[in-house]
Amino acid sequence: AVTHTLCPQAHAAREEPSLPRDASPRRYLMCPPEHFRVTYSINPWMDPAKPVDLPLALTQWEDLRDRYRSLGHTVELLTPRPGLPDMVYAANGATVVDGRVLGARFAYAERALEAEAHLEWFRAHGFTEICEPAHINEGEGDFAVTSSWILAGRGFRSSPLSHDEAQEFFGRPVIGLDLVDPRYYHLDTALAVLDDRTDDVMYYPGAFSPGSRAVLARLFPDAIIAEEADAAALGLNAVSDGRHVLLPQTALGLFAPLRARGYEPVGMDLGELLKGGGSVKCCTQELRGEPRG
Ligand code: ARG
Repeated sequence: AVTHTLCPQAHAAREEPSLPRDASPRRYLMCPPEHFRVTYSINPWMDPAKPVDLPLALTQWEDLRDRYRSLGHTVELLTPRPGLPDMVYAANGATVVDGRVLGARFAYAERALEAEAHLEWFRAHGFTEICEPAHINEGEGDFAVTSSWILAGRGFRSSPLSHDEAQEFFGRPVIGLDLVDPRYYHLDTALAVLDDRTDDVMYYPGAFSPGSRAVLARLFPDAIIAEEADAAALGLNAVSDGRHVLLPQTALGLFAPLRARGYEPVGMDLGELLKGGGSVKCCTQELRGEPRG
């Protein structure tokens, strides 16, 4: 009799519309696209023959920066350097967890010098626990932080060896995930953390190997599963503060499932930055925790 009264209630509770979620204030590092160009191609999105509208890229990037600020978040700025056209994708330059900074080591020579620019910024801003990595990792391009784990992509850019390096440095369990589709060359093009207090994520299964898909299904049975069209709009290249989810505005299929879970989707137009193979998340590095001294 006891089980019979409990089950229908539990079921009813699940069907109720979700309450709005709580945002928490964030600190982000961004780099204006002053020198943004597509002069080489290191991912399938980049076509040097396609012109980039630089003033428009700047306006779109400023909209993103201003949106974060109007939501109450702090945006720190990294000075762009000439000759480093991909520097606008600030997520790739480091990973910061608990105030500890794991520097990046880029897979392609074209971006190699960005790593040092990030390290200099951290040294100048009070961060003292800084690891200059031995293995290739492209920062938050391939590392995603949930409350329980650090999810880590491999297959196109970051080395599997960087996963052990991150686990040892941060003291958090790192879960390696194999990326198999060149359009989704970084983890943050295929998976987004929605709530880093409850391990809530959304992802596109087609970007992952069968084994990694099974791992994701086991860790995140309630995840939002993205359709191919929304993944192809880089809809998973999203940033969440626990309530507002900033994502490419063309990833329309994600809006309803986000709302159903109590999130507030905020569509952004970063069409010019898409020509380099990045969107909201690529342009945003999250600085988690206070610098450690
Ligand atoms: N053009 C850049 C590259 O291929 C884009 C990086 C996008 N960043 C990201 N976090 N996915 O390296």
